[in-house]
Formats: sequence, C-alpha cells, structure tokens
Amino acid sequence: MSPSAGGLVVFLLSVQVIQSQDGWRVNYRQTDVCAVKGSTVKISCTYTHPPGKDHLDIKDRFWFTKEKDGEPVDLTTDSEYSGRVMYGYYRNWKSFYLTITDVRESDSAEYKFRFMTNKPGEKYTGSPGVTLNVTDSGLQVQVRRSDSTWLELTCHSSCVLSDRAEYYWYKNEENIKRGSSLLVSSGSTDRYSCYLGGSWNNGSPAVYGPQRPSVSASPSAEMLEGDSVTLTCSTDANPAASYTWYKAHRTSDPRLLSKEPHLVFSSIQSSDSGRYSCTAENQLGRKTSDFISIDVKYGPRRPSVSVSPSAEMLEGDSVTLTCSTDANPAANYTWYKEHEDSPRASGQIFTITDFTAEHSGNYYCEAQNEMGRSNSTLRLITSSGKSHSFFCSLTHYINNPTKEVTHSKRGF
Ligand SMILES: *[C@@H]1O[C@H](CO)[C@@H](O)[C@H](O)[C@H]1NC(C)=O
Ligand SMILES: *[C@@H]1O[C@H](CO)[C@@H](O)[C@H](O)[C@H]1NC(C)=O
Repeated sequence: MSPSAGGLVVFLLSVQVIQSQDGWRVNYRQTDVCAVKGSTVKISCTYTHPPGKDHLDIKDRFWFTKEKDGEPVDLTTDSEYSGRVMYGYYRNWKSFYLTITDVRESDSAEYKFRFMTNKPGEKYTGSPGVTLNVTDSGLQVQVRRSDSTWLELTCHSSCVLSDRAEYYWYKNEENIKRGSSLLVSSGSTDRYSCYLGGSWNNGSPAVYGPQRPSVSASPSAEMLEGDSVTLTCSTDANPAASYTWYKAHRTSDPRLLSKEPHLVFSSIQSSDSGRYSCTAENQLGRKTSDFISIDVKYGPRRPSVSVSPSAEMLEGDSVTLTCSTDANPAANYTWYKEHEDSPRASGQIFTITDFTAEHSGNYYCEAQNEMGRSNSTLRLITSSGKSHSFFCSLTHYINNPTKEVTHSKRGF
C-alpha cells in the first residue's frame, strides 16, 4: 500500500545570494529550486532597505516572473497561477516567502522579489532571482549489468536531492525494499520503479524487460511474388527494446537479416519464403518471438518437357512425355495437340502407345495454378525414308527453338 500522496517536494541548492544596492538588499535563500510536477514549492528571501525606514514604510511586496509594459506583474494577479500562489511571512517582517501548489512544468521560470516604499520611485528588485525547474518525474531508474545473472537498478533524480532522501522500490505495484539500489535477475519481465518517501505520486517510470515479441505480416500473410510486404516485430519494454530479425536456415544457424523493428520486402520473391523470427532486447533481458511462416505464391514458370525414350525408337513403340514446372501452389498439367480443342491428357505424364506417323505434330503442355498458366511446345516428327523404311524423329522445343533436339532412327 502506498502512503497517502505527499506534500512538499523541493530540493534545494544551499547557496546564499545577496543582491544589494545603497542599503537596499534582497537575499534569496537559494538560487535554484528543482521540483517534481504536482508538488508544492516554497521560495523565500529576506530583504533590507536603507536605515531610517521601517516596515510601515513598505507599501508593497510581491514575487513576479513576467513584466507587462515594463512593470513586473504580481504573481497573485497572474491568471496562470490563479488559486495556486500564496505569500507569507516568517517571524519578522523582512522574510517573505512564496508558496506555489500543484506546480506545473510551465511554472519553470525565474522568480524575483520586488518591494517598494510609499515614497514614489523608491523600489527595488532582487535580480537575478530564483530559478525554478519543474520536472515531470524527478526520478529515473538506471540499469547496470552486475554479472551474467544479476542487474543492479539504481534510482536517480534529475533534481538535486537532499542527503536525507529515502528511496523505495516497487515491483509490480508492491513495495519491496528501501534503499537507493536493487538487485534483480536478468530476463525478468517484472516492472520495477522507485519512489521517494513522501512523493508516492511521482515515482520513476517502471523499467522492465521485453515480453515475448509478436510478429505480423502486412498487408497480410497471403502474398504473391512481387508484392510489397512488411514484417513487424513488436513488444512492450522500458527502456525501449531493440530488434533483430532472423531467417531460419535448414542447414546452418539462423541468418541475421535486419536490426530494425520492420523487415521490408519491396518486391517479395519466392526465395524469400521461409520461417522468420525476431528478438527484442533491452538492458533487462531478451526474448525471441515465435516463427512466422512466409509462403510466397507464384504462377507456374515455363514448364520443361522431356521425352522418353530419349534414344532411338521404332514405330509401334510407346513414347512418354513428361512436363514439369515450379509453382506455388503446385500446378496441374494439361496436354494439347495443335489444332485440337480438347485436351489429349491431363497430368504430368502423357504416354502415346503405338507411335505412328499420325502422331506427328506439335504438342504443348500447359501448367496451371490459381496464379496463372504457362506452356511449352514439343514437336514430334515422323519422316518417311526410302521404301520399306522411315525415320522417326522427335524434336522438342523448350522455351527456345535453338535448343531443338532431334532423335532419329532408321526404321524398317
Ligand atoms: C487446374 O487448376 C486450375 C486452377 O487452380 C483449376 O481451375 C483447374 O480446374 C485445374 N484443372 C485440372 C485439370 O485439375
Ligand atoms: C502458350 O504460352 C504463350 C506465351 O505465354 C501464349 O501466347 C500461348 O497462347 C499459349 N498457348 C496456349 C495454347 O495456351
């Protein structure tokens, strides 16, 4: 349980500065005041005026930060401080203080004291004044690795602290220890923060190691070759985590790809398919994500066609044509003969039994999946020779007719 919200939190530099002129004098108790947002600040000074006057001669006294038309503006009349400033006196008339409650960052300014007598023209401002610096939270946890398993957390203030400051440590909202440092084990995802006694509302931001990062693909995990794809690694950690992307490799260690939270493919290729993971790391620990599988879809490449037997063959033999291609998802295959509308066969393998002269002509194999289709042409030629004999020759084109291959055989 937190003690109730504390009041005064002001950290002082004990420097006395005396502004003086012909017996007029303002003595600020400190020149720099650091305060945590929301706390109450008290600034004070003592002043003296030339001999021969007493407090009854003092007509007005006030604190100010701004001037309007060359005249200082009394803080109690400044709307930005409305309801938050109060003046007061210590035992004697000559010590005057200013209290600002619920200080805001915008209250950071130089505060000066001014006083004047009832005689026109007799006035004095203590300058330079007191600089107030209001910080969001005065406290910060710093992390230092102590050894491979332990981390040392220390509490620091951006305000100058008095020696009597007492620090408390919270682990996930629970008060666990008093003291300026704390040992915690590396890799912990617990949240640690420190507080100053009396200032429970203004603890440090919590520090914690990364949770297991999550990975996502954008625009979606369904992707086509050429798409622009972004993988994003994200986690929650303080201090902010740094990220590293890896791609799993079948035969070696994962390959390091990037040290950014985003892994961007401007035009994704089939070779980018695979399993990816990222790690998130800060001073408190490191966590690795699950794998995300990237499956890049693409239409069939131009098929390659082979003929068997590839050696010499005779009329009446059977011929087997085989078509294959690379596609994702896998392609199906259809065989056509030139000038015919309906397919001769479907499937990767097309067998012509009892090969005769009528079978000569162009055949093509078409490979198709939901991404597209592609074909290759194969020419089978029967050429008759002299009487009682002919040549059977097979020519197939694969993409490029210059790669024509001819098989020929003197027949009967
Ligand atoms: C081949 O695949 C395409 C696309 O997936 C489909 O439309 C077609 O019916 C399939 N053809 C055969 C013969 O399976
Ligand atoms: C074979 O592919 C070519 C080029 O991709 C195309 O122009 C042709 O129409 C296709 N042939 C058949 C029969 O699909």
